[in-house]
Amino acid sequence: MAKTGQSRRRFLVALAFLATGLLSLTRFLKPAAKSKKTLLAVAEKDIPSNGALVYKEARVAIIRESGKISAVSLVCTHLGCTVSATTDELVCPCHGSSFDWKGIVIKGPADRPLPQYKVEERDGRIVVLL
Ligand code: FES
Repeated sequence: MAKTGQSRRRFLVALAFLATGLLSLTRFLKPAAKSKKTLLAVAEKDIPSNGALVYKEARVAIIRESGKISAVSLVCTHLGCTVSATTDELVCPCHGSSFDWKGIVIKGPADRPLPQYKVEERDGRIVVLL
């Protein structure tokens, strides 16, 4: 009888170790939740209507076009120069690529659009998310 009790105890201890190991493995294999990091936050009133608010250091333009606000990367998809904003488009000074306000290529040599950032409105501020 004592042998059965000891065997049961060993089984339960082994089961506890196995459960702990599986729990640890599950935590390790489960992808971490994507956190939304804030790149920029600006007052909505500071964004010109039908224009762009440019942040050179962050290489981001926050654009309001037809009442809709978006954010686009200013890193040229050709060779990585910083794109400038004009009154109606985004132009790369290095080799002359141009993009519309949505970052779509108008003229090459760039052949890919400028990446867009997600934006959220929070209490009158526009937050650009990574
Ligand atoms: S780096 Fe922008 S056009 Fe070449």
